[in-house]
Order: sequence, then C-alpha cells, then structure tokens
Amino acid sequence: MSDSDLWVRDVLATYSFLALVLTVTTIFIWKRWPNLQKSIYKSYLTGFEVECAELALPYKKHLFGLLQEIVSSDYRLRSMGCIRVLEIGVKTGGHRENIQFYPNNTYLISVDRNLKLAEYLIKGNYSWKFSHVIIERVIVGDGSSLEDVPTGYVDVVVTTRSLCSVTSIRSTLREIRRVLAPGGHYLFMEHIPEREGTFIRWLQKALSQTKIWPSLFGGCHLNVDIMMNIQNAGFDRVSWAMFTLEGYVSQTFHLILSKQHILGVAVR
Ligand SMILES: C[S@@+](CC[C@H](N)C(=O)[O-])C[C@H]1O[C@@H](n2cnc3c(N)ncnc32)[C@H](O)[C@@H]1O
Repeated sequence: MSDSDLWVRDVLATYSFLALVLTVTTIFIWKRWPNLQKSIYKSYLTGFEVECAELALPYKKHLFGLLQEIVSSDYRLRSMGCIRVLEIGVKTGGHRENIQFYPNNTYLISVDRNLKLAEYLIKGNYSWKFSHVIIERVIVGDGSSLEDVPTGYVDVVVTTRSLCSVTSIRSTLREIRRVLAPGGHYLFMEHIPEREGTFIRWLQKALSQTKIWPSLFGGCHLNVDIMMNIQNAGFDRVSWAMFTLEGYVSQTFHLILSKQHILGVAVR
C-alpha cells in the first residue's frame, strides 16, 4: 500500500468512527428527548423561576400594590369589599408566586396549562398558603381561549412571565380585554428581548426561531415584542416601565437571556 492509500484508509476510518458516534448519540438523545425535556423544564420551573420570582419581588410588590385601590364592577363583590382576579400562568400558587399578593377574599380564576394546577391549588399540601383567596374556578388550558369566562366578568387580569409561552399572544390579549369589565385593569410583568443589534438579541432570535428554547422551556419565546402587542390590543390606556432583573441565580445564562422586563397596567 502506498502512503496515499494509507492516508485515505486512516481518514475513512476516523470519519466512519465519528459518524458512528454521532449517529448513536443522536438516536440516544432522540429516544430520551421527551424525558429530557420534562426534567429540564421541571428543573427550570422549580429552580430558575423560583429564584427569578425572588429577584422580582420588589417589582411585584409595587405592581400588586395597585390591587388595594381597585373596586369591583360586580355589585355583590363590591358590597363585600372584594375583587375578582383572573391570572394566566398562575403556576402552582406556591412559594413566591402571585397569589400571596392578592387581597384577602379575592375571587380568583386561575388559568394554567399545567395539568397539576387543580391538584396543587385545591387538594395540594400548599393550599393553606393561599387560603386567604377564594378559588372561584380553575381552568386548565391555554390562555388564548377563555371561552368559559363571560365577557366583562373580571376586575383584574394578571400575567407575569407567562405571555412568552402562550399559543397566540394576539388572541390571548384579545381574550384578556374581552373578559375585563369596562374600566378593568390588566397588570403585567413580562420579559422582553434585548435591543436590536446586540449579540444577545441575535441569540434570542436564533434559539426561538430554531425552536430549541421553546422546546426545552415550556414554549417560551425570547424574541416576542410583548409591549408592541399590548399597545396594539385596543386598551384605553397603557402605562409601563422597563427594568432589568439583576442578582444571583443558579442558571446565569437563563437570566442573561431573559433579564429585560416590562411592568405595567393596561386599562380597558
Ligand atoms: C414561567 S412560569 C411563571 C409563573 C408565575 N406567573 C410567576 O411569575 O412566577 C409560566 C407559567 O405559565 C404557564 N403557561 C405556559 N404557557 C401557557 C399557556 N399557553 N396558557 C396558560 N398557561 C401557560 C406555565 O405552565 C407556567 O406555570
């Protein structure tokens, strides 16, 4: 065998080996993908999102302070000094989530596509943590279809870090506006993309458009212009501010990709 024959043989052997390793790894990941997705999403919800909620606490206190001033449009609730709140993406209502901020005796309609929601809210070990609210209804499903909720029925709608993963942001905002009573308030705190032209913005687009990020993190899209959508949703008034979430979290990359936020109120 000449030197060039040996060279060709070595190259073929090396590449065949690499191709074999790649194929076996791909098949392995492919087979385990659903389980892998589930465990990554679970660790994100119970890890990063809890840390993130901790960092967001001062902003949430400020936002939910408004609830104390809201008067219900429902005569019966008004006479009892209560309000009706609908939250999309309520998660489990557990530690550091939004239910703790709701005034005593709030009538709450909880919406989340997490099948475990009802179990946690009503039967779960944590239900004592939100015994100050009255769980009027639990809707397990997508925030963009709230057909079980009558038009003009609720005083306040809340979303925090949830709009990024609804099936359709436009239909969700249309539904939010529909279910709100005239003069009702939509309170939001959502993560938004970085400025155009930055490396992080490029990464946010790439990860979202290739579906890598949404497939791992419960449908979250990092590149949605949420503020533009809220402003075009037909509310009478929208006031909002931007802020950057900062502090220690264990999944630093996650915060880098979702640290810019908007916080605000839209009035129907
Ligand atoms: C990132 S967590 C935020 C939880 C909570 N709002 C907070 O601020 O801590 C997003 C929540 O939205 C829920 N969610 C995601 N997509 C949804 C959809 N299309 N409709 C309703 N809920 C959804 C998830 O199940 C999860 O509980």
